[in-house]
Amino acid sequence: MRTTIQHFSFILLISLITSFSIKKTEILNLVTEYKTNPIGIDVQKPRLSWQLNSDEKNVKQTAYEIRVADSKENLESDKNLIWSTLKVESDQSVNVVYKGPALNSMQRVYWQVRIWDDKDRVSKWSIPAYWEMGILDKALWTASYIAMNDITTEKKSHPSQYFRTEFKTEKTINSAKVQITSLGLYELYLNGEKVGNDLFTPGYTSYNKRLQYQTYDVTHMLKANNAIGALVGDGWYRGNIGWKGDYAFYGKQLALLVQLHINYTDGTTETILTNEDWKASYGPILESDMYNGEKYDARLEMDGWAKTGFDDNSWKKVEILKHSKDILVAPQGPPVKAIEEIKPKKLITTPKGEIVLDLGQNIVGWARMKVKGKKGDQVSLKFAEVLDKDGNFYTTNLRAAKATDIYTLKGGGEEVFEPHFTSHGFRFIQVIGYPGTLSLNDITGIVIHSAISPTGSFVTSDPMINQLQSNIQWGQKDNFLDIPTDCPQRDERAGWTGDAQVFSMTAAYNFDVASFYTKWLKDLALDQHENGSVTNVVPDILTGGEGVSAKGGATGWADAAVIIPWTVYQSYGDKRILEEQYDSMKGWVDYMSKQSGNDYLWNDPKHWHWGDWLAYNADKPDYNGSVTEKDLIATAYAYYSTTLLHKIAVIIGKTEDVEKYESLAKNIKTAFIKEYTTPNGRLVSHTQTAYAMALSFDLIPKNLIEKSAAYYAADIEKFGHLTTGFLGTPLLCTTLSKIGRDDLAFMLLNRKEFPSWLYPITMGATTIWERWDTQKPDGTIIEGMNSFNHYSYGAIGEWLYTHVGGLRIDPENPGYKHIIFDPHPGGGLTSANTEFLSLYGKIKSNWKIIDRTFQYEVTVPPNTTATVTLPNAKADEVLLNDAKLKNEFHKIMKQTDDGVQLKLGSGTYKFSYPQKS
Ligand code: BGC
Repeated sequence: MRTTIQHFSFILLISLITSFSIKKTEILNLVTEYKTNPIGIDVQKPRLSWQLNSDEKNVKQTAYEIRVADSKENLESDKNLIWSTLKVESDQSVNVVYKGPALNSMQRVYWQVRIWDDKDRVSKWSIPAYWEMGILDKALWTASYIAMNDITTEKKSHPSQYFRTEFKTEKTINSAKVQITSLGLYELYLNGEKVGNDLFTPGYTSYNKRLQYQTYDVTHMLKANNAIGALVGDGWYRGNIGWKGDYAFYGKQLALLVQLHINYTDGTTETILTNEDWKASYGPILESDMYNGEKYDARLEMDGWAKTGFDDNSWKKVEILKHSKDILVAPQGPPVKAIEEIKPKKLITTPKGEIVLDLGQNIVGWARMKVKGKKGDQVSLKFAEVLDKDGNFYTTNLRAAKATDIYTLKGGGEEVFEPHFTSHGFRFIQVIGYPGTLSLNDITGIVIHSAISPTGSFVTSDPMINQLQSNIQWGQKDNFLDIPTDCPQRDERAGWTGDAQVFSMTAAYNFDVASFYTKWLKDLALDQHENGSVTNVVPDILTGGEGVSAKGGATGWADAAVIIPWTVYQSYGDKRILEEQYDSMKGWVDYMSKQSGNDYLWNDPKHWHWGDWLAYNADKPDYNGSVTEKDLIATAYAYYSTTLLHKIAVIIGKTEDVEKYESLAKNIKTAFIKEYTTPNGRLVSHTQTAYAMALSFDLIPKNLIEKSAAYYAADIEKFGHLTTGFLGTPLLCTTLSKIGRDDLAFMLLNRKEFPSWLYPITMGATTIWERWDTQKPDGTIIEGMNSFNHYSYGAIGEWLYTHVGGLRIDPENPGYKHIIFDPHPGGGLTSANTEFLSLYGKIKSNWKIIDRTFQYEVTVPPNTTATVTLPNAKADEVLLNDAKLKNEFHKIMKQTDDGVQLKLGSGTYKFSYPQKS
């Protein structure tokens, strides 16, 4: 009786709440190709996404209507529409493809959307958004590449080049857009002001195949008399690249290409183009190089060089350079920007007497310096990640990268210096030759990276785990510099495919990486060899060179071709990336299949693989238990990528391939089991990596899973620590959770001695290290290849989000359309707050244990659903918002071995129940 009364009052309460607090569902955050109001895009059928915002629960979109027009007025008055979908019955609110008429170059269109919910209520039209096309018709590239007569013959850093011209506008301007690119990196100025705040434009692509151009709206920067100027430096195109001391990898001569389109209010247009009338000169940037730094002599500044009236008589005429314009593409990824400024925390005089500033955080970017002194005074800024064990400035691990900026003062007041076309990976700055007394205020650390927006956060009750999460996120920021790099400081900084692959899922939790990877994968596909082999680094600066790194086709590295598009599909529901990368993926899988031959084992000893790179003690070949046979790894990865390709063929309807890859996968699995698994479930490489790989890729026959899992767990117990390298580590804890051994996963996570994730933190690390023992407990630093900022081992982040936090993608319903909440509390943690900004809106999975009560709050965004597992809960003990679970939930509730399972619509839910001891 009591329960019935309670039940009724609950229902009443719920209905009161719903009837009085209805706020109309709003449509927000319209994005086109993952961007807000992008201009200069060349995706011909852009995809449109929006979010629903509502304070009701269980909000579902059942239909949408999109309309597109060439002006806001037409859009809102519903006249002269370019495209209207009318009402489409669909719950899709993410990546809806524009299917209107083909758009023209530089055409801007406005769009808005409204939706119907499952109660057939229609929303208001959203606020209009827009997108604008770039140059689609190659014939519109009428400007010429202009260059100085400066062709590199020596392997050294060069002065940057300055280009300029002047022009008049005689009528009233309606709008003006500039398209610009360069061979080398550029900065563009109009009437003395920098255009936009992007850095390292035009970005880093396989320059011989794809060269990005940017579009900027400069309407408000133009006057009657104008000067346009651009600065061009070596960058990746002509600077020092790779660890073999190469220069001018993509070309020996820098160049600039500019088109400025002006639309006047009278309907006429005018175009200002780079041509032989422009002039060029060297200036204060005497040397500029990505690895080595910038040498700037302020005495050579040319005041007003990008303004009208500047005397350029001494400047030289430019020459026209013949270079393809067919390779010009609009950028898809986010530009690099200066994102944050950090003030130094300490000023140190080292035992050697060096003056060093400590930012307290390993960052990527440079130092802005304020300085006063005499004309000709020279200050050098050197950059390092660490101090050595004696506390002195340490740069050995930068190898040949000089990482030094040198500034010569012009004198006469305060001067501010920032370099242009270089970046450094550093926490410490050594200042040499500073006139006067250096104070903390004179130097600011400028943090730069691709402007990926933050999406994920993970905060627990343990400050050390929080520091680990911070190190992972910094590792990502520091290594997302237009391409995913292995490291940001030494003479390497290359787009290593393996590192990118193992980290990609963690990356997609931390930041919005959809368009960042979309861009990079295009270069991966273009650099791929004809036989399908994928290069070790992208852009490929290694093929054709010497040594094993020139070879490519390495297991776990080349699989980036399949795994990263899959990650993007999983995280954003993006099918187009699967379609666009399909040939590339197929090429790679077919290549592996050919390599493996009739027995389906990829075991050619002559084929180079990196294997489980940098596994614990792998340099001791007889070390029992950490070296995983490379052919086992290669065959396992061949299987994994083939299974993904099979799934992808199904998803995008490549029916002709479905059976082929299904049976190829089956054959590889059979061969794997026969070759590497004993009838008792033991693997021939009896290592953590082998078990983690075989168990997580589903390569162990069902009847042996328990036995293999026991071997796996026993190995971890025997060592008491991890022994894995680049390929095993990302799978280590997720596989332990999969076999029900969270206890061991937490043991590995919480370990503070070497080898572990927390050991570097005990040594003061603020980023993820390349090796488990990059720095020894006594402070000694391994010489040679050794970075303090490699994100690969940060791949543990995926397990933190998905298991400790319990916020997971449903592979069958990706992009968070259906969310899986399944937290695995443990390891002594008393809380974990996990949030993720999905394309549908904010998802939350926050748990805490208070007074032996497990409290769990989840937020499911509108137009999504979720399945939640309440760990170790008993159905009759669970409270929802402090009241017992009611019938409406009972219908969908399941008591499982792991706890209670519920299906939820959108909304925020607070569960609590007694914590099982
Ligand atoms: C890089 C790596 C890369 C590896 C290949 C190193 O030089 O820094 O992170 O994956 O080579 O094994």
